[in-house]
Amino acid sequence: MTSDEEAVAGARTAFAGTFGGAPEGVWAAPGRVNVIGEHTDYNGGFVLPVALPHTARAAVARRSDGRVAFASVQGDGSVVELDVSELEPGRPDSWAAYPAGVVWALRERLDGGGVSVLLESDVPVGAGLSSSAALTCSVALALRDLAAPELGPPDLVEVARRAENDFVGAPTGILDQSASVLCTAGHALFLDTRDRASEQVPLDLAGAGLELLVVDSGVTHEHAGGGYGDRRRECESAAERLGVAFLREVDDVAGLGSLADGTPEGDVLFRRARHIVTENARVLEVVAALRGDADPRTIGPILTAGHESLRDDFEISVPLLDAIVESATAAGAYGARMVGGGFGGSAIALVDHDRIDAVVAAVTERFAREGQDAPRTFTAVPSAGARRLA
Ligand code: GLA
Repeated sequence: MTSDEEAVAGARTAFAGTFGGAPEGVWAAPGRVNVIGEHTDYNGGFVLPVALPHTARAAVARRSDGRVAFASVQGDGSVVELDVSELEPGRPDSWAAYPAGVVWALRERLDGGGVSVLLESDVPVGAGLSSSAALTCSVALALRDLAAPELGPPDLVEVARRAENDFVGAPTGILDQSASVLCTAGHALFLDTRDRASEQVPLDLAGAGLELLVVDSGVTHEHAGGGYGDRRRECESAAERLGVAFLREVDDVAGLGSLADGTPEGDVLFRRARHIVTENARVLEVVAALRGDADPRTIGPILTAGHESLRDDFEISVPLLDAIVESATAAGAYGARMVGGGFGGSAIALVDHDRIDAVVAAVTERFAREGQDAPRTFTAVPSAGARRLA
């Protein structure tokens, strides 16, 4: 991770080296981990993410020639450049689609002008930590400040969602974008994705002698294709069969009985829906514990139950994520679960500060037995949402 001063200096230097001249500003937006509430967001349900200290930074300057240019410090040095009027879903189709989608969503605000965008990020990519929302939200905030000052935080979430859903074509919900824009340091964001009401829930794990350990399985995932979209469609089918707009409307597993009609398909839909119903309940339980005086350690078993539900009912875990959860809890973590869209990515574990080394050693030893290199680990300190750095 980079300090804000280093980030600004680095982004300015890279911008000058790529485009010449100085950017008009530098904006940052974080990745996230979700404490609990997985796959509930596109079902109108509850989520509870925290922003990570890791951010994407966008150094941006307007230009008058109607062209957009994107470069990434993490990339190969090449610049993706085209006319704003040429932007359309599928064009560009590289990593630049994420920032391009934001420019596309706000293209009318550019009044015939364009932008040069230099991106730099220390959010691990493909680790389920929302590196793409960090990119889109940093650019959305930059364009808001430079060209669309009337946009409020909920509008920025919407712009970033459109970039991801309508331009990149990844059928995600609004968890990642909301976390990146709305989170505040020292808090988890309790968000009701149905009406978008939110509450900042204080989360002082360090004060309780705890850490939220993040372990990257190293298995990369891809949201635009495959399993994520399948799960979304299965949830929509289940909701349709139950006659509700969203699975959120069902608040008790008893209300799912009609899905299990004895067919294999009915059984699958029942289990997918059961995950959503029980996961929403878990979010409410965790929020109640954190709002009250309860020891945060008491949320540990709820996190582990969330993992079991994602593994058995939603079927989006992978063996290495299960191995992290098993080895971390066996070594003394109060609870652990995979996070994000699934099929790879990271897991979190709630661990006493003085047990961190033992838990990391246990997970590393388990990885070695599975023939894997030691995983990347770090502590998720609840950090600030998107902001202008300079
Ligand atoms: C990905 C998506 C989010 C959310 C999570 C699962 O991160 O981008 O919208 O659905 O998966 O909770």
